[in-house]
Amino acid sequence: MNKATVTIAVFIVVAVGMLLIWRSSSLEVFTNPIETEEEVVVEEESNENSGGFAPMISEEELALHNSKDDCWVSYAGSVYDITDWVGKHPGGMEAIISVCGESTKFEEALNAQHGEDRAQMLPKVGQFIGTLGVIEGAQS
Ligand code: HEM
Repeated sequence: MNKATVTIAVFIVVAVGMLLIWRSSSLEVFTNPIETEEEVVVEEESNENSGGFAPMISEEELALHNSKDDCWVSYAGSVYDITDWVGKHPGGMEAIISVCGESTKFEEALNAQHGEDRAQMLPKVGQFIGTLGVIEGAQS
């Protein structure tokens, strides 16, 4: 075997090898198109996010719920619907109705009357419905 024959043989072996490697990697893409690692990770992340989602409620929206039949209050940035409990307040309905639809005013009234610890009862007497926030572009 002369030098030229050896060179051609080596070239053919390398070319065939490269062709086989290329074919097997492109086949993988076609035979397994759905569950790439990247897609699985994206799916897990979106599950986590949906668990922590809380609607944003503006001061204006909160203020609309200011009666005994529709009473929302906000404490430390959390908004609760306490409509079903307003008539059961041991201190009377009127005390609560005066602060339905309020955030700062409700906090001050609750803290002054009962102390801050009483706020821990809010998730029990009411239903958490969202987070108080400024909504960009909202008209005041
Ligand atoms: C949602 C939050 C509130 C809860 C869970 C709550 C709960 C209670 C409870 C259990 C009592 C019976 C007595 C006691 O344990 O202190 C009471 C009494 C009373 N509450 Fe509230 N309350 C709340 C908010 C308010 C607010 C905002 C006011 C005032 C605007 C108020 C005014 C009163 C008054 C005047 C009494 C009767 C006097 C007293 O016992 O202190 N409460 N409340």
